[in-house]
Formats: sequence, C-alpha cells, structure tokens
Amino acid sequence: MLGDNMRAFRESLGQNQSEFAAWLNERLRRKYDKQKISAWERGAERIPQAVSALLVKDIAASTGVSGPAFIVTVANQKGGVGKTTSAVNLASLLAKAGYRTLLVDADPQANASVHLGIPVKHLEAEKRTLYYALRDECALDDVLVQVDHSGLYVAPSSITLSEMEVELASEMGADHVLKGCLDSVAKTFDFIVIDTPPNLGRLTVNALAAAHSVLIPCQTETLAMLGIELLMRSVTKAQRRINHGLRVLGILPTMYDKRLTQDRETLAEMHQTYAGAMRIFPPLPSATLYPQSVKGGRALLEAMPDAPGADVYQAVYDTTVAERRKLLEAKHVA
Ligand SMILES: Nc1ncnc2c1ncn2[C@@H]1O[C@H](COP(=O)(O)OP(=O)(O)OP(=O)(O)O)[C@@H](O)[C@H]1O
Ligand SMILES: [Mg+2]
Repeated sequence: MLGDNMRAFRESLGQNQSEFAAWLNERLRRKYDKQKISAWERGAERIPQAVSALLVKDIAASTGVSGPAFIVTVANQKGGVGKTTSAVNLASLLAKAGYRTLLVDADPQANASVHLGIPVKHLEAEKRTLYYALRDECALDDVLVQVDHSGLYVAPSSITLSEMEVELASEMGADHVLKGCLDSVAKTFDFIVIDTPPNLGRLTVNALAAAHSVLIPCQTETLAMLGIELLMRSVTKAQRRINHGLRVLGILPTMYDKRLTQDRETLAEMHQTYAGAMRIFPPLPSATLYPQSVKGGRALLEAMPDAPGADVYQAVYDTTVAERRKLLEAKHVA
C-alpha cells in the first residue's frame, strides 16, 4: 500500500486526516494521530502491515473488484540462487498486506509448495496439482490450496510436472499454456507470483510468456554475470516473440556477504553492467535463517517480519505494488 493510495481512499470517504485516524483507531484499537496519517501519506514513514491489510480489503470491498492480477515471474536458469525463497517471501508479503495473491509453483522440484507445508504427495495422488491443470484435466481453480496462516493461495507442484517439459514440446501454442490457465483466475487475484525451475525449458518460457514482469534473483558470486546475460537473452527473445509487454522488475542480488571480496566485486560489476538498463535492488544478506525457515512451513518474513533482508524484500514488494498500479493506470487511460 502506497501513501497516495491511502490518501485517495481517505478522500473517497470524505474524511480529513484526524477523522481518518479516528476511523482507523476504532477498527484496529490503536492510537494513531493526524501526524501519523500525514507521514504515511507523504511516504515519510512506512504504513504498518495491519493498516495496509485493512485498507486493501476495504478498497477491494468498496470497489467490488479484485484483480486483474499483476504477474511476476521469478527466474534464473542457475540453480540455488534464491528464486524460491524470493517467490515465497514476496508472495507472502503481498498476501499479508491484504492483496489476493497466488503463488504458482512451476518447478517440478516443488520446493515452494513444500516450503509452505503443502502435502504435495497427497495432492499428487488426488491429481490436484498444477500439472493436471496444465493438461486441461481440471480447472486451475480446482487445484488451488489456501495456506491457512497468511491467506496466500498456492498452485502446488509435483514431480510429474517435469513430464510437462516433454509434453509441451508437441503441444499447439506450447508457450502459452500456463498463460491460458492463469487467465481463468486472473480476475480473482491482485498478484500472481510464479516460481520457476533452474533451466530455460518450456516451463520457464511459459512463465515468461504469462508475466508482466520478471524478477531475477542472482547470487553475488563469480560467474553470476554470465548467468544474467544468458537469462537476459531469453527475456529479450520472449519480449520479441511471445510477450511484448514483459518488463524486468529488477535484479535481486542474493546471499550477499559484504566481508567477501568476491561478493563486493560481483555486486559492483552488476551495477557497472546493468544499472543504467534496469533496477538493481539492494543486496539481500546471506543469513542462515533462510535455509532454516524451509522446514517451518511458512515464509521466513511471515514468521519473523524483522529477519535480515526484510528491508530488501520490502523494497521488492513496494516496487511490485507500484508497477501494478502503473499498469492499471495505463489501462485506465487507454
Ligand atoms: N539470503 C539467503 N541467505 C542464505 N541462504 C539463503 C538465502 N536465500 C536463500 N537461501 C538458501 O539457499 C538455498 C537455495 O535457495 P532457493 O531454494 O531459494 O534457490 P532456488 O534458486 O529456488 O533454487 P533452485 O534453482 O534449486 O530452484 C536454500 O537452502 C535457501 O534456503
Ligand atoms: Mg527453487
């Protein structure tokens, strides 16, 4: 939630800042004052999660709409660079803020699904995973699972999804199968985040074809730059051939240890090479809490909102929300 959105909502209620503070205090049992509202609206202070969640729900209720979904694909063909961790934490922040959010686990490793405590073997036995929706054996809506604690929805993966790489090769309109599935639910979500496998195969291409924006997590290590270059070639091809509207949300340097020369040099090289062309988020610090959180059944930032790197994921969240707003405004004008 941005300050401008809050101001617009307050004005739509016909309230001044003092009245709005009282309105919030009554509903949230807090003691906010006029100065606080002003600081939030000016962007001088971050709007607390509880306030933003309440307002997002109220705005959706007052307009009677959710969606259309802004779709972010998290991609990098290199393995273990933080794609799943970023997808899970971004989706969780969006859901926690009150946005209707769907996390699509498009990786046959099913790491995002398992991370969120989803019983993938059981769902696979019941044929209720993304694979069956992509094969048109059921509607995507039928495989969605709501993760109890945050309200986040997940389209779970399973190992059978790996068969899709082969099956899609002979499918008509092979690059747009995932997009077709997402179109069926895009009106009911504000955001869809797609986690992808560590390759540039059909599933990743499908995720690039379906997205408005691609987030590129990239470990600050030697050879990382080669990986970005390769991915950027695929993104450019996708923009030219299958998805003209695709934009790069930014590069997210991950697992950064500022004590290591290699990490500092790689980060500097990322800035030298790409800073003029695309956004580079601040580096996400390396922290053992991330691997430890995998067994907890929830995103680290859901369990520990102040964990190391929270400010970086907050910046990714803010950018994602701002990009959706820009897209909606552009559509409104057009
Ligand atoms: N900031 C971080 N600091 C330390 N470890 C991290 C951080 N972010 C992620 N990790 C850990 O690094 C490992 C790889 O992360 P993750 O699974 O998110 O990468 P990935 O790119 O999705 O991998 P894959 O390509 O296999 O899908 C995991 O054990 C994860 O918990
Ligand atoms: Mg992963």
